[in-house]
Amino acid sequence: MKYKSLLILLFILPFCSASAQSSIDRRVDSLLSLMTVDEKVGQLVQYSGTSAQRKTLVRQGRIGSFLNVLGANSTREVQRIAVEESRLRIPLLFGFDVIHGYRTTFPIPLATACSWDIALIEKAERIAATEATAAGVHWTFSPMVDIARDPRWGRIAEGAGEDPYLGSAVAAARVRGFQGPNLRSPTSLLACAKHFAAYGGAEGGRDYNTVDISERTLREIYLPPFKAAVDAGAGSLMCSFNEIAGMPSSANRTLLTDILRGEWKFDGFVVSDWNSIGELLQHGVAADLKEAAVLGLKAGVDMDMEADAYHNHLAAALREDRITGSELDEAVRRVLRAKFQLGLFENPYRNCDIGRERRDILTPEHREAARKTAQRSIVLLKNQNNLLPLRKDLKTLAIIGPLADDKESTLGPWHAMGKPEDVIPVLGGIKAKLGSGTKVLFTRGCEIEKPSMSGFTEALDIARQADVVVVVVGESGQMSGEAESRSNIGLPGSQEDLVRALQGTGKPVVVILMNGRPLAFEWIAENVPSIVETWFLGVETGNAIADVLFGDYNPSGKLTTSFPRVTGQVPVYYNHKNTGRPPVDSVKWTSKYLDLKNSPLYPFGYGLSYTTFSYSQLALSAKTLKPAENLIVSVTVKNTGNRSGEEIVQLYARDEVANVTRPSRELKGFQKISLAPGESKRVHFVLTPENLKFYDRDMKWTVEPGRFSLYVGPNSAEGLETGFHYSAQ
Ligand code: GLC
Repeated sequence: MKYKSLLILLFILPFCSASAQSSIDRRVDSLLSLMTVDEKVGQLVQYSGTSAQRKTLVRQGRIGSFLNVLGANSTREVQRIAVEESRLRIPLLFGFDVIHGYRTTFPIPLATACSWDIALIEKAERIAATEATAAGVHWTFSPMVDIARDPRWGRIAEGAGEDPYLGSAVAAARVRGFQGPNLRSPTSLLACAKHFAAYGGAEGGRDYNTVDISERTLREIYLPPFKAAVDAGAGSLMCSFNEIAGMPSSANRTLLTDILRGEWKFDGFVVSDWNSIGELLQHGVAADLKEAAVLGLKAGVDMDMEADAYHNHLAAALREDRITGSELDEAVRRVLRAKFQLGLFENPYRNCDIGRERRDILTPEHREAARKTAQRSIVLLKNQNNLLPLRKDLKTLAIIGPLADDKESTLGPWHAMGKPEDVIPVLGGIKAKLGSGTKVLFTRGCEIEKPSMSGFTEALDIARQADVVVVVVGESGQMSGEAESRSNIGLPGSQEDLVRALQGTGKPVVVILMNGRPLAFEWIAENVPSIVETWFLGVETGNAIADVLFGDYNPSGKLTTSFPRVTGQVPVYYNHKNTGRPPVDSVKWTSKYLDLKNSPLYPFGYGLSYTTFSYSQLALSAKTLKPAENLIVSVTVKNTGNRSGEEIVQLYARDEVANVTRPSRELKGFQKISLAPGESKRVHFVLTPENLKFYDRDMKWTVEPGRFSLYVGPNSAEGLETGFHYSAQ
């Protein structure tokens, strides 16, 4: 009787208290007071997939969450066991990697970031959340917000690129999109910012490798997007596999407790990455799995994904006083709070509605949004003599390349429930765009990875028949993503040879790139007239590329990662330090490679349009900025071409002299504007002293008096320059 009355109390409390949060806290504490140690540990245990044995554990209250259990029916079946057959009826949390769409696959995150369109990115995640929650999912292991400066690292595909300012704006948008305004809404998908932290700083771009960076670099480069995700209300974080300067993140109390909860006041929960607690043994900081469990819990990892560490050892660790009851309770409290916030106690089957699953997934509206997002993720890298956009009345068009008719790779890595049969490939999109008046010839020409030129003859043959050659090359969808590091980021196989051969025909050639990372293709960049970066664009690939190729959408995307000329130039990123000998190509004794131009092939923020833009009249509201003041930075941007277009206006700052070295440029603002031919707009940015702060010699977050340079322009390497003084009084 006691439990029943208490359980009833749990359900009526929320309607009697002033603040929902304090009511949730009271309900959590009431439930906690009923739980055995095994049931408490159970809330901290997550496994991938179910089994008869795991259903028994659910019945015993010894599993609190699953990943990779999908679908209204499958989740309902397991949830029923938890809420109808377990002693305390605590609902399960179902997680899944919804990284760029659930069934309607959107462009990979590195692509959508190139839109610099925060509202568009948020909307894409709202759609992903609508579909995932229709299929039983409560929680996505996304957004991945790792800053990445090394394209050898395959997971660069999953994030927003190399810049903390843009990365922070994108992280917050993704969290808002996933979670929506109210976690109790049936379409709210709990977000999980990952991988906390600095996973993208792996030495050599080798996945899971050592990260050895200064605290200043950690805090100024890698942490800001996580802070932005937390400030946007992310309900969870996932700690990373890697160590940072000797401390693996899964055992890093400074990171997971002092910074995350002490400084940032994060009140959600932390889940480990897959077996990352178990990997503390490989890292050499835990002698056995029990020690790993103790380290993880004490550091601030609340839930153990697939390591068996908490499940098998936390109760014993408690009995042996290696963890305290309050440490255990605090972790359980965080997980239970999330379940209450999601409304799972009132409605454990909220996402198990087969009708929604049939109705809300892969709808025409979702496909249309995917197409719009894909269009805006495309980056025009080169367009000599305005070869593009192509005419729609071409007599003959040759489409060549191993990715031209590919439906699998275009989904990219981590494509959740996206299916090849849902994809419009390039060839299909172009054919749909052109009438029967254009003869479209197609051949693969070569494979993606297997070096072979046997298909060249046919490729050259159809190229010679064509007015224009479109060649679609790049990586397979599984050459980026997790555990996909590459020592060579040139075009794989014999694809560059194919492009060279096609260029040799003298026909106008358009290269379409499909890739999950920056690639190094210096010869193509110097010799082929038109190059379009399309990343992996998802289900609407072919339509979006055709929209751009034939001018129905004027490309507006800009790179969020620098492209190196060759692999050996990595790492190359825009917000680098000046050094004591900045590179000068004509001067040997400077910081540079002797066998290479030292600028990137394409810089951060770079992207062209079918029109042109001019920048003029850069002005500041004052020459001196003082504490508690704002500085207005204004510039006029004009569309100097003959078609409408969008421009992403970027503001960079440089702290000329400080008590530590400072980056040569830092992005401090961006605005995407649309301009008709001949139209001008006055664009304004607001800078505050807070925007200028950095961690000084004593790791104090501060801004020093002195001169700052400002750059406003179309990318990180060009623009108008001005400057101002910051005065401390
Ligand atoms: C993986 C990834 C992580 C993912 C998790 C669950 O190993 O590192 O990003 O969310 O496992 O699939």
